[in-house]
Amino acid sequence: MLSFLKKMIPRSIKKKIKETNYFQHQAVSNLAATSKRIDICSAQMAHIFHLSKHAPIEGKVCLEIGAGWVLTHALVCYLLGAKKVIATDVVPIAQPDTLLLALRDAIASIPRDILAPFSDHARVRERYNNLLSYSEFSFDTLKELGIEYQSPVDLATEKINTPVDFIYSNSVLEHVPVNDVPDLLNNLVNSLNVGGTMIHCVHLEDHQDIVGDPFNFLDIHENQFTPTLQSNRGNRIRCNQWRKLFDDLKGTNTDFIYCYSRLEKPLPEVIDSSISYVDEDDLRVSHIGVYTRKED
Ligand SMILES: C[S@@+](CC[C@H](N)C(=O)[O-])C[C@H]1O[C@@H](n2cnc3c(N)ncnc32)[C@H](O)[C@@H]1O
Repeated sequence: MLSFLKKMIPRSIKKKIKETNYFQHQAVSNLAATSKRIDICSAQMAHIFHLSKHAPIEGKVCLEIGAGWVLTHALVCYLLGAKKVIATDVVPIAQPDTLLLALRDAIASIPRDILAPFSDHARVRERYNNLLSYSEFSFDTLKELGIEYQSPVDLATEKINTPVDFIYSNSVLEHVPVNDVPDLLNNLVNSLNVGGTMIHCVHLEDHQDIVGDPFNFLDIHENQFTPTLQSNRGNRIRCNQWRKLFDDLKGTNTDFIYCYSRLEKPLPEVIDSSISYVDEDDLRVSHIGVYTRKED
Protein backbone atom coordinates (compact mmCIF):
# COMPACT_ATOMS: atom_id res chain seq x y z
CA MET A 1 0.00 0.00 0.00
CA LEU A 2 2.77 2.39 1.05
CA SER A 3 4.84 1.64 -2.06
CA PHE A 4 1.72 2.20 -4.22
CA LEU A 5 1.22 5.62 -2.62
CA LYS A 6 4.92 6.43 -3.09
CA LYS A 7 4.61 5.68 -6.82
CA MET A 8 1.68 8.11 -7.09
CA ILE A 9 3.81 11.05 -5.90
CA PRO A 10 5.31 12.97 -8.86
CA ARG A 11 9.14 13.09 -9.03
CA SER A 12 9.25 16.91 -8.66
CA ILE A 13 7.29 16.70 -5.40
CA LYS A 14 9.53 13.86 -4.13
CA LYS A 15 12.57 16.05 -4.81
CA LYS A 16 11.02 18.96 -2.87
CA ILE A 17 10.23 16.66 0.07
CA LYS A 18 13.83 15.42 0.12
CA GLU A 19 15.09 18.99 0.22
CA THR A 20 13.08 19.92 3.31
CA ASN A 21 14.98 20.41 6.56
CA TYR A 22 12.79 17.77 8.21
CA PHE A 23 13.63 15.11 5.60
CA GLN A 24 17.33 15.93 5.67
CA HIS A 25 17.44 15.78 9.46
CA GLN A 26 15.72 12.38 9.33
CA ALA A 27 18.32 11.12 6.81
CA VAL A 28 21.19 12.33 9.00
CA SER A 29 19.56 10.76 12.08
CA ASN A 30 19.41 7.44 10.23
CA LEU A 31 23.08 7.76 9.40
CA ALA A 32 23.90 8.49 13.07
CA ALA A 33 22.02 5.40 14.20
CA THR A 34 23.65 3.11 11.61
CA SER A 35 26.98 3.58 9.82
CA LYS A 36 28.00 6.53 12.02
CA ARG A 37 27.29 4.79 15.32
CA ILE A 38 30.19 5.24 17.69
CA ASP A 39 30.99 1.52 17.98
CA ILE A 40 31.14 1.22 14.18
CA CYS A 41 33.32 4.30 13.71
CA SER A 42 35.55 3.13 16.58
CA ALA A 43 35.99 -0.17 14.72
CA GLN A 44 36.96 1.72 11.54
CA MET A 45 39.58 3.74 13.37
CA ALA A 46 40.93 0.76 15.34
CA HIS A 47 41.23 -1.15 12.05
CA ILE A 48 43.41 1.50 10.40
CA PHE A 49 45.43 2.09 13.56
CA HIS A 50 46.21 -1.64 13.71
CA LEU A 51 47.08 -1.85 10.01
CA SER A 52 49.38 1.16 10.18
CA LYS A 53 50.79 0.21 13.61
CA HIS A 54 49.96 3.78 14.54
CA ALA A 55 51.20 5.34 17.77
CA PRO A 56 48.60 6.63 20.27
CA ILE A 57 47.16 10.09 19.56
CA GLU A 58 46.77 10.83 23.28
CA GLY A 59 47.49 14.54 23.87
CA LYS A 60 47.80 15.20 20.12
CA VAL A 61 46.09 17.71 17.83
CA CYS A 62 43.97 16.05 15.13
CA LEU A 63 42.44 17.36 11.94
CA GLU A 64 39.60 15.65 10.13
CA ILE A 65 38.74 16.74 6.60
CA GLY A 66 35.30 16.20 5.09
CA ALA A 67 33.85 15.40 8.52
CA GLY A 68 30.33 15.10 7.08
CA TRP A 69 26.92 15.20 8.72
CA VAL A 70 27.60 13.20 11.90
CA LEU A 71 30.85 14.01 13.69
CA THR A 72 31.41 10.54 15.16
CA HIS A 73 35.02 10.10 14.03
CA ALA A 74 35.85 13.31 15.91
CA LEU A 75 34.28 11.76 19.03
CA VAL A 76 36.45 8.66 18.51
CA CYS A 77 39.55 10.90 18.48
CA TYR A 78 38.28 12.34 21.78
CA LEU A 79 37.92 8.78 23.17
CA LEU A 80 41.51 8.13 22.09
CA GLY A 81 42.59 11.10 24.21
CA ALA A 82 43.24 13.73 21.53
CA LYS A 83 43.95 17.14 23.06
CA LYS A 84 42.12 18.93 20.26
CA VAL A 85 40.17 17.82 17.20
CA ILE A 86 39.53 20.21 14.33
CA ALA A 87 36.72 18.77 12.22
CA THR A 88 36.44 20.57 8.89
CA ASP A 89 34.29 20.45 5.81
CA VAL A 90 34.01 22.26 2.52
CA VAL A 91 30.28 22.78 3.23
CA PRO A 92 28.75 23.29 6.69
CA ILE A 93 26.57 20.19 6.93
CA ALA A 94 27.32 18.82 10.42
CA GLN A 95 24.32 18.25 12.70
CA PRO A 96 25.82 17.74 16.18
CA ASP A 97 22.46 17.01 17.84
CA THR A 98 22.37 13.66 15.99
CA LEU A 99 25.41 12.45 17.97
CA LEU A 100 23.02 11.37 20.72
CA LEU A 101 21.76 8.73 18.26
CA ALA A 102 25.32 7.67 17.46
CA LEU A 103 25.69 6.81 21.16
CA ARG A 104 22.17 5.61 22.03
CA ASP A 105 22.25 2.02 20.72
CA ALA A 106 25.99 1.50 20.56
CA ILE A 107 27.52 -1.45 22.43
CA ALA A 108 29.69 0.38 24.96
CA SER A 109 32.20 -2.43 25.42
CA ILE A 110 33.20 -2.34 21.73
CA PRO A 111 34.76 1.17 21.64
CA ARG A 112 36.34 0.56 25.05
CA ASP A 113 37.92 -2.77 24.10
CA ILE A 114 39.04 -2.00 20.56
CA LEU A 115 40.38 1.49 21.31
CA ALA A 116 42.22 0.39 24.46
CA PRO A 117 45.37 -0.78 22.59
CA PHE A 118 45.85 2.84 21.46
CA SER A 119 45.09 4.48 24.80
CA ASP A 120 44.16 2.90 28.12
CA HIS A 121 41.03 0.90 28.90
CA ALA A 122 40.14 2.82 32.07
CA ARG A 123 40.67 6.20 30.43
CA VAL A 124 38.59 5.25 27.38
CA ARG A 125 35.82 4.11 29.79
CA GLU A 126 35.98 7.43 31.65
CA ARG A 127 35.75 9.43 28.42
CA TYR A 128 32.96 7.22 27.08
CA ASN A 129 30.98 7.70 30.30
CA ASN A 130 31.53 11.42 29.97
CA LEU A 131 29.96 11.30 26.48
CA LEU A 132 26.99 9.37 27.88
CA SER A 133 26.44 12.08 30.51
CA TYR A 134 25.46 14.61 27.83
CA SER A 135 21.72 15.04 27.28
CA GLU A 136 22.32 17.00 24.07
CA PHE A 137 25.15 17.81 21.68
CA SER A 138 25.78 21.16 20.04
CA PHE A 139 28.86 22.90 18.64
CA ASP A 140 29.31 24.41 22.15
CA THR A 141 29.22 21.05 23.95
CA LEU A 142 31.68 19.68 21.38
CA LYS A 143 34.04 22.54 22.28
CA GLU A 144 34.00 21.30 25.90
CA LEU A 145 35.37 18.01 24.54
CA GLY A 146 38.09 19.82 22.57
CA ILE A 147 36.29 19.39 19.23
CA GLU A 148 36.08 22.46 17.03
CA TYR A 149 34.05 22.48 13.82
CA GLN A 150 35.38 24.68 11.00
CA SER A 151 33.25 25.02 7.89
CA PRO A 152 33.10 26.12 5.16
CA VAL A 153 36.82 25.69 4.57
CA ASP A 154 38.40 24.52 1.34
CA LEU A 155 41.82 23.14 2.20
CA ALA A 156 42.80 23.09 -1.46
CA THR A 157 42.91 26.89 -1.38
CA GLU A 158 43.74 27.65 2.26
CA LYS A 159 45.81 26.14 5.03
CA ILE A 160 44.53 25.37 8.49
CA ASN A 161 46.08 27.85 10.98
CA THR A 162 46.95 25.33 13.69
CA PRO A 163 49.81 22.84 13.21
CA VAL A 164 48.47 19.32 13.68
CA ASP A 165 49.86 15.87 14.55
CA PHE A 166 47.32 13.60 12.87
CA ILE A 167 45.05 14.08 9.84
CA TYR A 168 42.18 11.73 9.04
CA SER A 169 39.63 11.41 6.29
CA ASN A 170 37.07 8.77 5.41
CA SER A 171 35.48 8.73 1.95
CA VAL A 172 36.52 12.29 1.19
CA LEU A 173 39.52 12.48 -1.18
CA GLU A 174 37.58 10.85 -4.02
CA HIS A 175 35.11 13.80 -3.89
CA VAL A 176 37.80 16.42 -4.47
CA PRO A 177 37.96 17.58 -8.11
CA VAL A 178 41.06 16.14 -9.84
CA ASN A 179 42.75 19.50 -10.36
CA ASP A 180 42.41 20.42 -6.65
CA VAL A 181 43.94 17.22 -5.28
CA PRO A 182 47.70 18.13 -5.42
CA ASP A 183 47.11 21.51 -3.72
CA LEU A 184 44.93 19.93 -1.06
CA LEU A 185 47.50 17.23 -0.26
CA ASN A 186 50.36 19.75 -0.14
CA ASN A 187 48.39 22.02 2.18
CA LEU A 188 47.70 19.07 4.47
CA VAL A 189 51.38 18.12 4.61
CA ASN A 190 52.29 21.76 5.32
CA SER A 191 49.89 21.72 8.28
CA LEU A 192 51.49 18.60 9.74
CA ASN A 193 54.07 18.86 12.50
CA VAL A 194 57.34 17.04 11.83
CA GLY A 195 56.74 13.38 12.75
CA GLY A 196 53.01 13.88 12.14
CA THR A 197 50.92 11.38 10.24
CA MET A 198 47.84 11.18 8.10
CA ILE A 199 45.50 8.35 7.15
CA HIS A 200 43.06 8.68 4.29
CA CYS A 201 40.48 6.00 3.48
CA VAL A 202 39.55 6.55 -0.15
CA HIS A 203 36.66 4.93 -2.01
CA LEU A 204 37.35 4.62 -5.75
CA GLU A 205 33.99 3.34 -7.04
CA ASP A 206 31.39 5.25 -9.04
CA HIS A 207 29.16 6.67 -6.27
CA GLN A 208 26.17 6.77 -8.65
CA ASP A 209 25.71 2.99 -8.34
CA ILE A 210 28.32 1.61 -5.96
CA VAL A 211 26.79 -1.84 -5.62
CA GLY A 212 25.60 -2.51 -9.17
CA ASP A 213 27.90 -0.65 -11.54
CA PRO A 214 31.01 0.56 -9.70
CA PHE A 215 33.12 1.35 -12.81
CA ASN A 216 30.42 2.91 -14.97
CA PHE A 217 31.94 6.40 -14.86
CA LEU A 218 35.28 5.34 -16.39
CA ASP A 219 34.17 5.83 -20.01
CA ILE A 220 32.67 9.31 -19.68
CA HIS A 221 34.54 11.85 -21.78
CA GLU A 222 36.75 14.21 -19.79
CA ASN A 223 34.87 17.29 -21.10
CA GLN A 224 31.59 15.94 -19.77
CA PHE A 225 33.00 14.82 -16.45
CA THR A 226 32.76 18.28 -14.86
CA PRO A 227 34.12 19.15 -11.39
CA THR A 228 30.54 18.87 -10.06
CA LEU A 229 30.24 15.33 -11.43
CA GLN A 230 33.70 14.55 -10.03
CA SER A 231 32.50 15.68 -6.58
CA ASN A 232 29.24 13.75 -6.82
CA ARG A 233 30.34 10.49 -8.43
CA GLY A 234 34.03 10.40 -7.51
CA ASN A 235 37.00 11.92 -9.29
CA ARG A 236 38.05 8.63 -11.03
CA ILE A 237 41.69 8.84 -9.83
CA ARG A 238 42.89 5.22 -9.87
CA CYS A 239 45.08 3.44 -7.32
CA ASN A 240 48.42 3.85 -9.07
CA GLN A 241 47.77 7.55 -9.65
CA TRP A 242 47.03 8.00 -5.93
CA ARG A 243 50.40 6.35 -5.21
CA LYS A 244 52.12 8.89 -7.46
CA LEU A 245 50.24 11.82 -5.89
CA PHE A 246 51.30 10.74 -2.40
CA ASP A 247 54.86 9.86 -3.46
CA ASP A 248 55.19 13.40 -4.87
CA LEU A 249 54.64 14.93 -1.41
CA LYS A 250 58.05 16.24 -0.36
CA GLY A 251 59.49 15.15 2.99
CA THR A 252 56.99 12.33 3.48
CA ASN A 253 56.80 8.53 3.33
CA THR A 254 53.64 6.76 2.29
CA ASP A 255 52.40 3.17 2.58
CA PHE A 256 49.13 1.72 1.43
CA ILE A 257 47.71 -0.11 4.44
CA TYR A 258 45.00 -1.79 2.37
CA CYS A 259 43.98 -2.04 -1.24
CA TYR A 260 40.70 -3.84 -2.05
CA SER A 261 39.29 -4.67 -5.50
CA ARG A 262 35.96 -5.41 -7.19
CA LEU A 263 36.50 -8.36 -9.50
CA GLU A 264 32.92 -9.41 -10.29
CA LYS A 265 31.65 -6.29 -12.06
CA PRO A 266 32.33 -5.30 -15.68
CA LEU A 267 34.64 -2.53 -16.76
CA PRO A 268 33.54 -0.30 -19.66
CA GLU A 269 34.94 -1.32 -23.06
CA VAL A 270 36.60 2.03 -23.49
CA ILE A 271 38.36 3.92 -20.69
CA ASP A 272 38.40 7.69 -21.08
CA SER A 273 41.85 8.83 -22.20
CA SER A 274 42.15 11.36 -19.36
CA ILE A 275 42.27 8.52 -16.80
CA SER A 276 45.76 7.46 -15.88
CA TYR A 277 46.10 3.74 -15.09
CA VAL A 278 48.56 0.87 -15.38
CA ASP A 279 46.41 -2.19 -16.12
CA GLU A 280 43.06 -3.82 -15.40
CA ASP A 281 44.04 -4.57 -11.79
CA ASP A 282 44.70 -0.90 -11.25
CA LEU A 283 41.28 0.06 -12.67
CA ARG A 284 39.54 -2.50 -10.47
CA VAL A 285 40.81 -1.19 -7.13
CA SER A 286 37.79 -0.02 -5.15
CA HIS A 287 39.16 1.06 -1.74
CA ILE A 288 42.55 2.19 -0.51
CA GLY A 289 43.90 3.15 2.88
CA VAL A 290 46.82 5.57 2.66
CA TYR A 291 49.20 6.14 5.55
CA THR A 292 51.64 9.06 5.26
CA ARG A 293 54.35 10.15 7.71
CA LYS A 294 56.09 13.51 7.68
CA GLU A 295 59.79 12.82 8.12
CA ASP A 296 61.72 13.96 11.19
C1 LIG B 1 30.84 10.60 1.74
S1 LIG B 1 30.96 12.00 2.75
C2 LIG B 1 31.96 11.37 4.07
C3 LIG B 1 31.70 12.08 5.35
C4 LIG B 1 32.45 11.53 6.56
N1 LIG B 1 33.86 11.60 6.39
C5 LIG B 1 32.01 10.12 6.89
O1 LIG B 1 32.86 9.25 7.03
O2 LIG B 1 30.80 9.93 7.05
C6 LIG B 1 32.07 13.05 1.85
C7 LIG B 1 32.46 14.32 2.59
O3 LIG B 1 33.49 14.97 1.85
C8 LIG B 1 33.25 16.34 1.87
N2 LIG B 1 33.93 16.96 0.72
C9 LIG B 1 33.56 16.98 -0.55
N3 LIG B 1 34.45 17.67 -1.30
C10 LIG B 1 35.40 18.10 -0.46
C11 LIG B 1 36.58 18.88 -0.61
N4 LIG B 1 36.93 19.37 -1.79
N5 LIG B 1 37.33 19.12 0.49
C12 LIG B 1 36.97 18.62 1.69
N6 LIG B 1 35.85 17.88 1.89
C13 LIG B 1 35.08 17.63 0.83
C14 LIG B 1 31.73 16.44 1.82
O4 LIG B 1 31.25 17.70 2.23
C15 LIG B 1 31.34 15.32 2.76
O5 LIG B 1 31.32 15.74 4.09
